[in-house]
Amino acid sequence: MHYLFEKGAPNGKKLLLLHGTGGDETSLLDIARFLDEEATLLSFRGTIQESGMNRFFKRNGLNQFDLVSLEEESDRLIQSITSVSEEKGIPLEEWVIVGYSNGANIAAHMLLERTTAIKYAILFHPMSLGVDTQDFPLADKELWLSVSENDPIVSKEASNQLVQQLKNRQAAVTITKTNSGHQITMDEINQAKQWLSGR
Ligand code: MLT
Repeated sequence: MHYLFEKGAPNGKKLLLLHGTGGDETSLLDIARFLDEEATLLSFRGTIQESGMNRFFKRNGLNQFDLVSLEEESDRLIQSITSVSEEKGIPLEEWVIVGYSNGANIAAHMLLERTTAIKYAILFHPMSLGVDTQDFPLADKELWLSVSENDPIVSKEASNQLVQQLKNRQAAVTITKTNSGHQITMDEINQAKQWLSGR
């Protein structure tokens, strides 16, 4: 997969960025640098193209997910994360995923459906993709996520379902509520930064 890597200070966080639909590997850089100006950054570009927009898995219309593509792309993403982490000498458990929308969705799916040493995630406006085939515990995972009261893309049911899936598997979940639709707000970023500083 195409990615961008920027080495930060030795004590900086290790942030793994996954953009939203129509973004690319540069989309979340400013937010990531605000979260931790000393961070090491690894940012992937989704390999799927939808009318010129990059995504991390295919869909057949809004929230009509292509579950075959989702599984293929989850495997591809994990392989890419693992190989870059090995090459750069960064243990998987040090990464904090920072995902937005489509990027947050594949991140949550990956944590729920694959065994991975990745422990931490900041997910802006994620939703359940309706897949729930595993039951291994996620007691070692800590997630911060934001949910909007009036998100035109993520229904209350879909965000609640994701929170429930994570909690049922013993993941530690911190939720921040917003009311600015599907957009990332400064308030959310500040709350995510505070959560991150305790990790
Ligand atoms: C998705 O396709 O993953 C969600 O609908 C969010 C988005 O629009 O990217």
